[in-house]
Amino acid sequence: MSAQETSKAIENKVKNLLSKMRLEEKIGQMTQVDFTVIGIPKEQNAEGQIDQAKLEDAILNHHVGSILNTPFTPENKAQSIETWRKLTSTVQDAAARTRLKIPVMYGIDAIHGATYTQNSVLFPQAINMAATFNPELAFKEGEITAREVRASGLQWNFSTVMDIGRQPLWSRLWETFGEDVHLATVMGTSYIKGHQGDDFSAADKLPTCLKHYVGYSYPLNGKDRTPAWIGERMLREYFLPTFEAGIKAGSPTVMVNSAEVDGIPGHANHYYLTTILRGELGFKGFTVSDWEDIKRLYTRDKMAASPKEAVKIAVMAGIDMSMVPFDFSFYDLLIDLVKSGEVPLSRINEAVTRILTVKYQAGLFDPKPLPAVEGNFATAEAIETNRQAARESIVLAKNDRNILPLKKDANILVTGPTANLLSVMNGGWTITWQGLAENLYPQEKLTVLEAIQQKATGKVTYVGGNSFFTPIDIQKVVDEAKDHDVILLSLGEHPYTETIGNIESLNLDQAQVDLANAAIATGKPVVLLTFGGRPRIITSIAERASGVILGFLPGMEGGEAVADILYGDYNPNGKLPISYPRNTNGITPYDYKPMESFELNMYNPLYPFGHGLSYTTFETGGLKVEKDKIKMDENINVSVNVKNTGSLKGKESVLLYINDVAASVTRPNKQLKAFKKVELNPGQTESLNFTLTPQDLSFIGVDLKRIVEPGDFKVMVGNEIVGFTVAK
Ligand code: BGC
Repeated sequence: MSAQETSKAIENKVKNLLSKMRLEEKIGQMTQVDFTVIGIPKEQNAEGQIDQAKLEDAILNHHVGSILNTPFTPENKAQSIETWRKLTSTVQDAAARTRLKIPVMYGIDAIHGATYTQNSVLFPQAINMAATFNPELAFKEGEITAREVRASGLQWNFSTVMDIGRQPLWSRLWETFGEDVHLATVMGTSYIKGHQGDDFSAADKLPTCLKHYVGYSYPLNGKDRTPAWIGERMLREYFLPTFEAGIKAGSPTVMVNSAEVDGIPGHANHYYLTTILRGELGFKGFTVSDWEDIKRLYTRDKMAASPKEAVKIAVMAGIDMSMVPFDFSFYDLLIDLVKSGEVPLSRINEAVTRILTVKYQAGLFDPKPLPAVEGNFATAEAIETNRQAARESIVLAKNDRNILPLKKDANILVTGPTANLLSVMNGGWTITWQGLAENLYPQEKLTVLEAIQQKATGKVTYVGGNSFFTPIDIQKVVDEAKDHDVILLSLGEHPYTETIGNIESLNLDQAQVDLANAAIATGKPVVLLTFGGRPRIITSIAERASGVILGFLPGMEGGEAVADILYGDYNPNGKLPISYPRNTNGITPYDYKPMESFELNMYNPLYPFGHGLSYTTFETGGLKVEKDKIKMDENINVSVNVKNTGSLKGKESVLLYINDVAASVTRPNKQLKAFKKVELNPGQTESLNFTLTPQDLSFIGVDLKRIVEPGDFKVMVGNEIVGFTVAK
């Protein structure tokens, strides 16, 4: 069947099914509950088990359409693949006993691989994937994640985060693809395409979810779930495009911003959820609330005078499914609201049509057998892809006098709270919600220390504890330094996400600063390595260190990837997807406005967006535009050569920026519009071609519409700038 025929057939099936549904069954479809609603309480020590009576109450009596999460809240611990298969089939068995046999859609946060399935392949987090500037890796991550989540019997992935990371303090910065719209668009859509393929009903595919629509990532005070103040121009220019691209890439579900923008909570924003999302972006799938956020319109936001009014506001704003998550209040209240005429039945039919359509599209009514575990789960090939992603995601930021790569026979002193833990390389949403349970991490994976121990032929000494919080004996570091050639100082953050990860300042804690100062004072060369989801302030340490490696959250193969880079078994090529601040208030992004670099103002990060060194050198040159004048609706081709001018093979990402020289709305000094990553042998040159489209030249004009304005444009690659004119 052609895609068109399939969609017509699905439309008919949905219509037919909807016509048979009672109000309660419809509203059940709009209800999503947490696993705890059907699970046996932890106190009864029945890990990963379902209480049949509770299950039947949820599915047979309340007709719930979706379940999320994993045993047990709040720990949300990863389960074995066998447990998952059992749980999800028990749920579907119950659904098969309902009058209309509508399958339940089980959703999970598999944001960097199958987060909640034991021993899955856990990739670098999104901030690292962005640093690879390699969309092919994001595509493969999508493929592997989908396969492993499906193999676990799960049907819906609350990934990918399409928020733009322009607020470095935010505790979920690392869940984004960084501060740039183009980079996030390319990486996010590549992931979706790998995850969903052409048809997400395939046995090894499943639907993605774009989150958190929209403006969630830009809290003014930096704290999760606090207000953003985003004007409409900024919204359209920076925050909507990634969602628009994700919708075009075929993502059928959207999760809603848990906070508020311009005084309107995400869950109450009809303009965003209906006028823009449906009317302008053409989204046809369904929206799901975030965790408990409909209730919070009453309990937190004081926007509704009662829980019932909260349900009404949210549903009428455009929420199709409520992540309630712990009870059936949404179900009960919405039934009342429809019965009293406060919410029209047409709105319910609309929401349920969308939900059922996605269920059909995902093949839930006619499920394919689960992919075999063998050959589909944690394969050697997938682990190798993960290691490659980790290697390409690590940024070598400083390498004074080629301190790196280290010789394998160097005597190395390893210290710092992040040197010997897997959790610090994985971050939140790893095995547990907060990712902190080091004891649950797969023992065979290597920490940085362990990976160094495997590679080094010289002496390796470790001074540190076995938890992030264990105080480190600074005097011992100083004493040991004498017998070593180099100190690897591994600093950073412990894992976190959401409000639990809120902090007051990007400064490192004093214990880490003291350790760094003492290590540097020994006079031995120090290589600073950092892990964590945010750019914590390292300026004074980095300035005195000989080498700096920014690891962020490179995932389960991060230890090996760091050791590969440290010892030159891999030539680093990651580039920063954010501006790394020099000071805590240095939150100017790379695409700053002219006045941010005028008179005494400057863009002065510790490391700029796009920064990242290699053990070889590259030069770009011969930048050319195909024409010096184009019409407003024309494309323009750009070419540039890139050469490996050093003596080692390596990969280089070539970044192309543009600037609109004079415009009716102030334009960024430069904006990334294209990039390509190439691998070159020493002496090798490659010619790269790019096409800039009218969309690339456009911006949100005075009247809030996207326009291209005639005038001069600059194209920038490396040190070169060329220009062209857009004619009237
Ligand atoms: C988070 C979402 C997540 C959801 C379900 C929320 O608290 O904000 O990103 O998908 O929980 O776990």
